[in-house]
Amino acid sequence: MTMKPSVLVARAVFPEVLDKLAQHFEVTSNQTDVFWTQEVLIQQLQGHQGALTTGSVRIDAVVLAACPDLKICANMAVGYNNFDVDAMTQAGVLATNTPDVLTETTADFGFALLLATARRMAEAEHFLRSGRWDRWRYDMFAGCEVHGSTLGILGMGRIGQGIARRAAHGFGMKVIYHNRSRLDAATEAACGAVWVDQSELLRTCDHLMLVLPYSAATHHVIGANELAQMKPTATLINIARGGIVDEVALAAALRQGTIAAAGLDVFEGEPKVHPDLLALRNVVLTPHIASATIRTRLAMAHLAADNLIGYLVDGKPVTPINPQVLAT
Ligand code: GLV
Repeated sequence: MTMKPSVLVARAVFPEVLDKLAQHFEVTSNQTDVFWTQEVLIQQLQGHQGALTTGSVRIDAVVLAACPDLKICANMAVGYNNFDVDAMTQAGVLATNTPDVLTETTADFGFALLLATARRMAEAEHFLRSGRWDRWRYDMFAGCEVHGSTLGILGMGRIGQGIARRAAHGFGMKVIYHNRSRLDAATEAACGAVWVDQSELLRTCDHLMLVLPYSAATHHVIGANELAQMKPTATLINIARGGIVDEVALAAALRQGTIAAAGLDVFEGEPKVHPDLLALRNVVLTPHIASATIRTRLAMAHLAADNLIGYLVDGKPVTPINPQVLAT
């Protein structure tokens, strides 16, 4: 009898996904979800061929060097900036993520955050709950228009396209986008979106949606200079990664009225939120929940598990990030 491969599930996950993994692997899990330092992670990874990770689990050259048995890390997220993919490829460790299954759910949330921010829903709700509402007033929580306005999308992958479709077809918005690579004409038409350069995007949009992957190249791409180009009535929505925005510059821009409001689901030091942001009323803050519906989170966890099973059992991962590893 051959020994089952062994996998580590580094964060708590749906019990049914652990059961699925247990049909193929020896499974060690962190179901109590205790915080692991890098040192503990390395200890826990010893002897395991696979790991199921989330965005909070950093896999870098130090971890890889200390874990020679590791063959695959399956991230339960579409973003994978927690992986040093080059180091993984060099070490012959496959990386996988969870694209597609979260696209529409995440696009829904981006739109919800846009609506909540432009229409000042969080601020208005806090006001009501605080007992200060004594009568209707003509300008009470008057916000910015969403329908018919111009949405700027920075990054135009699957999620950006989902948001564009909602904006163009559901809310009659004019959609402009900027991305390194331009979409083909048919996809642009289906999204109702027009490519512009970054400066035009910043200057002309009423709402700016950030949906680009985070890497060294996109670190703080929105800083004081970029914010200064935006309309004073504009809103900024970030559902990508916190590090894309210089949060100190953003807080200053929100304080000074350089832009009107921001909706943020992601933060550079999360779960810590910069105190300058917490002090502002014109910002809607949510704890990294854009993909958080039960159905989608289950689909993400199953896809991560299927990548482990696909690779370690059959040699065929479902959604590899560095397929070069398969060729070696
Ligand atoms: C969540 O942030 C993801 O990348 O899936």
